[in-house]
Amino acid sequence: MRVSSILFVFIVETSVKAAKTATRASSFAGSTTAAIFPPVGADTAANSLFPNPSVVGYAGPTITGDEAAVLQTAPAAPFVDSVFPLVEPQPLEAAPTASFDILTHLGSLSPFRSLPPTTFGVINASAVVPDDCTLTQVHLLHRHGARYPTIGANEVAAAVHAAATSEEGFEATGPLKFLNTWTYKLGAEILTPFGRSQMFNLGMGFRVKYGELLKEATELPVFRTLSEGFNKFPLSY
Ligand SMILES: *[C@@H]1O[C@H](CO)[C@@H](O)[C@H](O)[C@H]1NC(C)=O
Repeated sequence: MRVSSILFVFIVETSVKAAKTATRASSFAGSTTAAIFPPVGADTAANSLFPNPSVVGYAGPTITGDEAAVLQTAPAAPFVDSVFPLVEPQPLEAAPTASFDILTHLGSLSPFRSLPPTTFGVINASAVVPDDCTLTQVHLLHRHGARYPTIGANEVAAAVHAAATSEEGFEATGPLKFLNTWTYKLGAEILTPFGRSQMFNLGMGFRVKYGELLKEATELPVFRTLSEGFNKFPLSY
């Protein structure tokens, strides 16, 4: 079993209470509900990510949709398996094997992906909230989206360059022929463009999965971050 180290999502479900079961249409069936955010009375002045509506211009006559709660209401949990717009590279002289997916072996560049809920050995585990339970709280802990390698990790490139600039030089042939004109093109430390989109999509995914929790909030959600790795998440949440 292999767990992607790029993002580690840790969700804690707490506080179970009985769900109501509707037997006939309610008087409000078919009426419109909409979300109100930030929570009424929440102090938004201290946080530039949540400016007061009056300073972001007239929103117009439109209303936003109501908050979603996919894990509470959908028949299946959403599963992250898209790597768009990445394309799996083809090995130069070997047929790709079904069992080896190089996109899961790219270290810090690997795309985040969901694992089956039973991955950690919990029998019959499911990401979907059971009918008789209600999700009341979510905690998310993660590091970063896809990022360039650590500074100094390009040792192979350094060795190739040292050989190329040495007195005797080198000439690569066969499958390694590309080395004759190859350059190292990765940056260091910061998120890749794909990594930035991961952060944005993660925030959007959380809004769709858990947005309904905001409706009972009396304070703004807490975003704690130390680096650029996190700053796209609140943009889409
Ligand atoms: C897992 O689910 C199956 C099918 O619903 C059920 O027969 C089995 O008892 C469950 N196992 C546990 C440990 O809950």
